[in-house]
Amino acid sequence: MPISYDSERKLFKLDTSDSSYVMEIYDENYLVHLYYGAKIPDANLKSHKYRGWFASVAPQNIHIEDTLFSPDVSPFEYPCEGTGDMRESAFSVRNAQGNNSTDLRYVSHRIYPGKPRIDGLPSLHVNSDSDADTLEITMADSVTGVRAELYYTVFNEFSAMTRFVKVFNDSDSPVDIERIFSSCTEFNTHDYDMITLYGDWSKERTFERAPLTHIRQGISSKRGTSSHAHNPFGAIAEHCANEEYGSVYGFNLVYSGNFEFSAEVEPHGGTRVLMGINPEAFGWRLESGECFSSPEAVSVYSAHGLGEMSRTFHKLYQKHLIRGRWADIKRPLLINNWEATGMDFTGDKLVTFAERAKELGIDMLVMDDGWFGNRDSDRTALGDWQVNEEKLGGPLSSFIARINSLGIKFGIWFEPEMISHDSNLYREHPDWCIQVPGREKSIARYQYVLDFTRKEVRDYIYSLMKKVIGENNIEYVKWDSNRSLSEVGSLALPPERQKEVAHRFILGTYEVMDRLTVDFPHLLLENCSSGGGRFDPGMLYFSPQIWCSDNTDPIDRLHIQFGTSLCYPASTVGAHVSASRRAGYETKGNVALWGTFGYELDPNTFTEEDREIIKEQVSEYHKYYDLIRSGDLYRLISPWENERRVAWMFVSEDKEEALLTSVVMRKPYDDAFYLRLRGLDPEKYYVDDNSGEVYSGALLMNAGINLTNYGRNDGDSFKIYFHTL
Ligand code: DGJ
Repeated sequence: MPISYDSERKLFKLDTSDSSYVMEIYDENYLVHLYYGAKIPDANLKSHKYRGWFASVAPQNIHIEDTLFSPDVSPFEYPCEGTGDMRESAFSVRNAQGNNSTDLRYVSHRIYPGKPRIDGLPSLHVNSDSDADTLEITMADSVTGVRAELYYTVFNEFSAMTRFVKVFNDSDSPVDIERIFSSCTEFNTHDYDMITLYGDWSKERTFERAPLTHIRQGISSKRGTSSHAHNPFGAIAEHCANEEYGSVYGFNLVYSGNFEFSAEVEPHGGTRVLMGINPEAFGWRLESGECFSSPEAVSVYSAHGLGEMSRTFHKLYQKHLIRGRWADIKRPLLINNWEATGMDFTGDKLVTFAERAKELGIDMLVMDDGWFGNRDSDRTALGDWQVNEEKLGGPLSSFIARINSLGIKFGIWFEPEMISHDSNLYREHPDWCIQVPGREKSIARYQYVLDFTRKEVRDYIYSLMKKVIGENNIEYVKWDSNRSLSEVGSLALPPERQKEVAHRFILGTYEVMDRLTVDFPHLLLENCSSGGGRFDPGMLYFSPQIWCSDNTDPIDRLHIQFGTSLCYPASTVGAHVSASRRAGYETKGNVALWGTFGYELDPNTFTEEDREIIKEQVSEYHKYYDLIRSGDLYRLISPWENERRVAWMFVSEDKEEALLTSVVMRKPYDDAFYLRLRGLDPEKYYVDDNSGEVYSGALLMNAGINLTNYGRNDGDSFKIYFHTL
């Protein structure tokens, strides 16, 4: 049984494929965390709840005889504010009396097959109830009348677990939720590092690792989006953990708004790790009888380093997060005009793109920003989603017909949540923006953010999108979002609900995305946010791919893609070959192959030699499509460890084939280059497709392969395809 309850010892044990998670209902119905880590056979862990001696200043429960128990040092499943636990709490409500003393205790539980969905929020799914089991624990606070259901789902096939919390107000008065984290994970020591992905526009998801100390550590966003600055991912790893060895706990939030991931080391050395909505930019008024759900947090345990953690996330998301017809079928190879033309294009110009694309074997043309209203610069027209027929040389339907007649599919760009200062929509509805009365709104890229907390605003924007998509043969939409939220407020909400705006905004965005995917199930949706500023599992629930970064330089992309791969699979990573300055087309292609693959340049500029390279790349895209999308990723040399060269490989699930890629960033001086491969079957024999040499998997993984003669100059790269005899 993946989830069991020992009624005598009052212990819950949750077993995934490789991990166990144990908690106990302690005296006075405190729900105490006992263990999370490698699988253990039984759960006799009672002594673990003590974290050593504590000072007499620590609050204790008068009804508990055990003088070693204090809420201040005990590891809790869902710690509350204001009742003796002085660490950062997971949950806090301000009650009708105005205080925020909150105390949830165990009431009952249910264990059942399958997994519930979360109303209005993205979450992982099961394909059949036998995929996962769920434990639902009901907790209640007898003073505030607040009840919480803690949901834990364990996936049978993966070392992974999801958690979320649903809160009910059973009292007669409103309460204000001030903190509602999705997961709290307690560790008995702090002998760990924290790994996070920081960044900025053009350098998203940069790997960072630092040891935990008693200085509180963490990342967060209050930008209204998950953001470039920090991804809602974090890992807690043993100091010794690397790609292959050591315990690693990965956490990822299925949410696209303000979040916090933090670790607090307590004086006795234990560590509390929280993941959820950032309380600094959140509040929620819960009326009597209402309920509120937190986003879902995913946790993955790996006993074999970061590599295994990543592969678990990848497979889990491919099977249980990404939905719709594009989850499984082959995606079109596309060319996007943005980097080539910006907004300075015509219908005729784009038709030449489609003509060249057809000659090269590309499937789809995506018309990016600039096709609507008077959008000739980024200063105007967001919100005016009417086709600029003058620019396209006629109605959109005729333009698309020209593209389609060449045998090329068509996709289009939108930025639904935004409104330009200079737009008809803003002139008509200045009140439709996110704003705070009396305070000037900050402008970013000359645009404001639409108040997607309001149904009439969402309905209006969606009606325009629906008209464009419904009346034309559009098979792909790029959903962009190019600014953070500031002066966060809504003219439609009362003062006591203003702290809800950021979360309501995300709920509104999800609602429009949901309508779009339900009304147009054939659409391939690609998310984007000034490059990869909203690359999170919440977005992956709606769109199977996300534009990874506006930085398409293949050398910079190595850092970005290595970081992104920590938890997101290759099939989700929007990656294109562009005209960027560093490296040739071969390297650009090799790097973009580790993603959705496509082009982002003017194909009219290709020389005959370029065209031959591109045709070869297109055929490689087809050849390696399944291997890269369903294979296992092994990061062999990461740019965060080696600034000179990197290498990675994909190995098919049946271990019959593998693709090794390596890029020289800066040519090393001393140059014997042996590389030990990973993930192969030691018993099998593999043909190196370049040299025709045959090697055993054991040899390739232990002795390595001599690659000294490959990649001689900065920016060079190479691939080797291996297949079994
Ligand atoms: C930002 C995106 O990241 C780009 O790819 C492009 O779509 C522009 N926005 C268009 O304004």
